[in-house]
Amino acid sequence: MRLFVLIGGPGSGKGTQCQKIVETFGWKHLSTGEVFRDQIRRKTKLGLEIQHCVHGGNLVPDDLVIKVVEEALSHYPDSTSGILLDGFPRTQYQAQQFKRYLGKNGQDIEKVIYLEAPIEILWKRLKKRGLEDGRADDLEEKKIRHRMKLYEQETQSLLNFYQQDKKLYPVPADQSVEEVFQDIQHLID
Ligand code: AP5
Repeated sequence: MRLFVLIGGPGSGKGTQCQKIVETFGWKHLSTGEVFRDQIRRKTKLGLEIQHCVHGGNLVPDDLVIKVVEEALSHYPDSTSGILLDGFPRTQYQAQQFKRYLGKNGQDIEKVIYLEAPIEILWKRLKKRGLEDGRADDLEEKKIRHRMKLYEQETQSLLNFYQQDKKLYPVPADQSVEEVFQDIQHLID
């Protein structure tokens, strides 16, 4: 089973590209953000616990995220051809713990695709999505700014971790959706 990770700032296109990869390659897509939003919508115990973090644009505590991902992965059948992790790992701690977890089963991430785009582009996309879709964490400029700041704080050490692990593949994300997808396809083929 192939395991790819997509990382990038809020609005860099992780979800958009994962959808295209799933359609083309038939892989499974695990977005921690989507899992959390679904739990919040359904008002589950986890949803109620994390609602204030997600809606406020804060990160969910590492150990909780790791538990959710490991639990979700344990349900995929061995016949699954590929899995895309979207938005996880997001901190160096998550990356280290996840590597340890995979290592226990003789597995590892194959490639980490880093969708790289200037902050101004991300900002414009999120503001547009906020107006069109009304996602709670896109609605206020101060929440978007907070997510961007957290992203900048956490990302460098995450990128260093995967750079040292020789898994990091940057892709310019300030291109059209199709152009970004073509770059990603080359990394998968
Ligand atoms: P998450 O859902 O991961 O949100 P995010 O990182 O803020 O990313 P987005 O979903 O906003 O953007 P995206 O990169 O998927 O872009 P998209 O394709 O939608 O996480 C949400 C929250 O959950 C976090 O804030 C945190 O609270 C929690 N969380 C999740 N994972 C966690 C973790 N590991 N640890 C701790 N907490 C965690 O595109 C955005 C917009 O741009 C769309 O409108 C799209 O149509 C458009 N667009 C995309 N690509 C292009 C393009 N090439 N050109 C033009 N427009 C484009």
